[in-house]
Amino acid sequence: MNLSNHSMAFSAILFLLPGLSQAGSVEVLHYWTSGGEARSVQVLKEAMQEDGHTWVDFVVEGGGGGNAMATLQDRVLRGNPPTAAQIKGLDIQRWARLGFLSNINNLAEEQQWDQRLPPVVAAAMQYNGDYVAVPVNVHRTNWLWANKRILDVVGVAVPTTWAEFDQAAERIADAGYQVIAQGHQDWQHATLFESVVLSVGGPEFYQAALVDHDFRAMRGDTMDAVFDRYYQLLDYMTLSGDLAEWNQATSLVINGEAAFQFMGDWAKGEFSAEGKVANTDYICAAVPGTQNQFLFNIDSFAVFDLRSADQADQSAQNDLVRNIMDDSFQRTFNQNKGSIPPRTDMSMNAFDDCARVSMKEFIAAAANNALLPSIAHGMATTGTVQGYFYEKIGELTVSPLPPSESSRELAKAIRYGQYVIK
Ligand code: GAL
Repeated sequence: MNLSNHSMAFSAILFLLPGLSQAGSVEVLHYWTSGGEARSVQVLKEAMQEDGHTWVDFVVEGGGGGNAMATLQDRVLRGNPPTAAQIKGLDIQRWARLGFLSNINNLAEEQQWDQRLPPVVAAAMQYNGDYVAVPVNVHRTNWLWANKRILDVVGVAVPTTWAEFDQAAERIADAGYQVIAQGHQDWQHATLFESVVLSVGGPEFYQAALVDHDFRAMRGDTMDAVFDRYYQLLDYMTLSGDLAEWNQATSLVINGEAAFQFMGDWAKGEFSAEGKVANTDYICAAVPGTQNQFLFNIDSFAVFDLRSADQADQSAQNDLVRNIMDDSFQRTFNQNKGSIPPRTDMSMNAFDDCARVSMKEFIAAAANNALLPSIAHGMATTGTVQGYFYEKIGELTVSPLPPSESSRELAKAIRYGQYVIK
């Protein structure tokens, strides 16, 4: 074997061995720009730089990720995919079916993902039984965030039922505070709406209406009751274009201008970024009526099949995947991000009260058929149906209709989304 064969063999060994790989670069497309989000993705950048790799940040503004997915589609169709992208839920299936994603079974085996991931997470990362994406975290969307000082001043406890919520809301409003801070964007309204579906209808109803899209469930009395409750909540919020972004709404709760926000636990990342402490400065609680029930939203990175990339870049891509499932990354990233690790073998000792409650309720929900995919965050249905769901909930939020008409309109929109060819 001549020298070049030697050096080629040597670099091939380097490529396979974790942490010994050649310095390469990774271009990562994501949409994490808020205080807590930026602090979190920074952990991954640093882990890659520690390995000697170059991180090329391709960040696309816009909470919820709608803009990022449109940009990604455009890039891939122009034959210019990034190394990896923040792709989640059923979109992973779509990209894998089109043949754009890399099979990373070898890394999954090396790090024993099958033994370390809950079945619901492992399944979401696989296409036809092959791993094509790596999970970063598990977010829960059915959370209520409260400013503790306002509750103390007004003398109300965190509500666990809607009756308690209405009583607390009246007193908070009487005391001159904004009751609910809500960013005026369709995906945020959809995030609140899905929690109300779970709260008013229960896990089975949520499954039937928002996952299986059972037409009778979507048009029935229960959905009417959901809209009735949802519209009551609109009375406690001021919707305006000035308060668009979700993290702006979180700031109002952090600053003591508003008492509550309904939002996934990425909101906790904003409290942490401001040095706020759970149960001292703010309180996290399940949306009333959804204790021990868990709407999951799993963030993940899918890696693109970069046939043209050189070995250094391919080994950098492997190290990106390895780093994401690594202990220290998982701990620091999820503490910053407000989520919990997707791994079942990680200790929660280093996490705060909210994260420990989240993990406890994740496990309880999984045992009681109450662990359900978030429709507002791409876990439950196709991107097309999600788009029609967003649009309709956004429309009805601005111009409410009588509950039974609202249910009919929503059922029509979801049904249309199921059959429209896009
Ligand atoms: C979700 C994403 C979260 C969070 C949120 C707000 O779709 O999964 O990680 O970033 O959007 O941007």
